[in-house]
Amino acid sequence: MGTEQVEQRRRFEPGEVVISEVTKDDLQSLAEGYYESFPKGWFDSIEPAHLRPEDESIRAKRFAIRMTPWLSEPHTRWTKATLHPSSPEYDPSAPNRVIGHAGWLLPGRTAAETLNFWRKDASDDLGWCEKMGWTEKYEDELWSGTDVNKYQEQTFLPWDRVRAGYMNSTGHWFLAPLWVLPEHQRRGVASLLLRDGTERADQQDPVPPMYLEAMKDARPIYEHFGFQGVEGDGADFVMIRTPPANVKPLGQK
Ligand SMILES: CC(C)(COP(=O)(O)OP(=O)(O)OC[C@H]1O[C@@H](n2cnc3c(N)ncnc32)[C@H](O)[C@@H]1OP(=O)(O)O)[C@@H](O)C(=O)NCCC(=O)NCCS
Repeated sequence: MGTEQVEQRRRFEPGEVVISEVTKDDLQSLAEGYYESFPKGWFDSIEPAHLRPEDESIRAKRFAIRMTPWLSEPHTRWTKATLHPSSPEYDPSAPNRVIGHAGWLLPGRTAAETLNFWRKDASDDLGWCEKMGWTEKYEDELWSGTDVNKYQEQTFLPWDRVRAGYMNSTGHWFLAPLWVLPEHQRRGVASLLLRDGTERADQQDPVPPMYLEAMKDARPIYEHFGFQGVEGDGADFVMIRTPPANVKPLGQK
């Protein structure tokens, strides 16, 4: 028998965690949450130490600003989890701290384009500098802590190509991404965020596919919500719920 101990954590009670839409005022907390929740090594590869500012708050601030135009793009859904004031863990000094996040690109957008907003060229394609009144120099500064080639060409662009191959212009929900702060993980927060998305997708007719790339440890969570591994490119990561007819779920004869 294994000796690994899984820490038991108190599950949140119904109503203790509130799921709502991200606003501009949440973006700093959201950016900080990304850096806290995703593995440090992953961020180190796309924002290497020799490029990024020593002051971590500048790093989060730049990322928060880079996300601003995402919120006004149509056919997207940006959700956050926060603690309700009735929660014994609610901190009145940080009432709006984002403890979890799920972002989705929706079928009205994904039928026409396979463009992860993390890509730098999303800004060119969608005209964000103009919309935001940013100069090119200002945008370069926002990206100056990142290895743009690694970030775009080696990370997000190849995955968009994989997604395009499976989805083939079928409008779908694309999860980009999902996280919960480490101290609140395994307490049901991701489930609330995912349920918000799957219930909305299920109300659409026909029910659209939902697509994500899952890290290995996170796969069981998505299986709870009906996502399946699939045969083909990136099979170690790609999971699809209600896949299009041309996609073969893993293990299906
Ligand atoms: C993955 C992540 C979002 C899960 O969030 P969470 O709030 O801990 O998930 P939940 O508590 O809602 O768990 C959902 C289900 O998955 C299971 N689960 C959660 N974490 C798990 C893990 N590491 N391994 C196996 N199962 C896990 C839980 O048992 C739970 O099932 P249950 O409700 O029947 O008990 C969170 O661990 C995280 O942010 N990780 C870092 C970032 C990341 O990897 N994001 C996903 C990228 S694909």
